[in-house]
Amino acid sequence: MSKLRVQRFCLSLDGYGAGAGQSRQDPVGVGGERLHEWMFPTRTWHRMTGEEGGATGVDDQFLVEATDGIGATIMGRNMFGPVRGPWSSDPSWSGWWGPNPPYHHPVFVLTHEPRESIPMEGGTVFHFVTDGIESALEQAVKAAGGQDVAVAGGVSTVKQYLRAGLVDSLHLPIVPVLLGRGERLLDEPFPGYECTYFASSDTVTHVRLERVRS
Ligand SMILES: NC(=O)c1ccc[n+]([C@@H]2O[C@H](COP(=O)([O-])OP(=O)(O)OC[C@H]3O[C@@H](n4cnc5c(N)ncnc54)[C@H](OP(=O)(O)O)[C@@H]3O)[C@@H](O)[C@H]2O)c1
Repeated sequence: MSKLRVQRFCLSLDGYGAGAGQSRQDPVGVGGERLHEWMFPTRTWHRMTGEEGGATGVDDQFLVEATDGIGATIMGRNMFGPVRGPWSSDPSWSGWWGPNPPYHHPVFVLTHEPRESIPMEGGTVFHFVTDGIESALEQAVKAAGGQDVAVAGGVSTVKQYLRAGLVDSLHLPIVPVLLGRGERLLDEPFPGYECTYFASSDTVTHVRLERVRS
């Protein structure tokens, strides 16, 4: 059976998954890009960006795990891009990732604004889901063909799946920066999850939470 996994969802020390003021200039909010800098020296990141070499170790292992066995992804519309309200304000927008996004499988974008699916190079197809998180999950599980489904973000989307008790596991890299403002993830009780693993590198502490099965 497919599992629903939150992978590589970075949090600041004060609990934010994005800074305040998301925009085209600051996709992760002001200062939020610092949440992702720990990935840049790794071998996996180097491969993704066409560079040689890169560091192995715990950071790299978690990046490998992040995509391993994932057959479909779900994300919120704010993670997909900066367009708010009707798509007609920028009908050409097709995500942050250029013509060949790094997913290479179907991606289901939660939104209140209907839109035709967008096939991209490399196998990624963005589908826009307007009838809620359960519908997105049902479609993603079907599309994943027996593999797991990832909830990529952002904060509001991860929270909705946590509230519904649908997430099987979360990998949360805790990054030693303070954002002060923005979108917080764990600011309400999410009963039924426990920490099953943590490990630190020089730059970040990796925490894994799993749903406790009764
Ligand atoms: N820290 C990390 O590792 C990480 C990972 C991924 C993303 N991020 C960051 O997180 C930020 C985005 O997070 P966010 O919490 O602002 O937003 P989000 O979860 O990405 O998207 C929220 C939006 O998606 C749509 N949506 C969500 N749930 C819906 C539902 N059930 N039905 C219909 N539409 C729904 C709504 O858009 P409409 O009403 O406009 O359609 C809503 O405003 C970005 O800055 C991104 O870069 C961080």
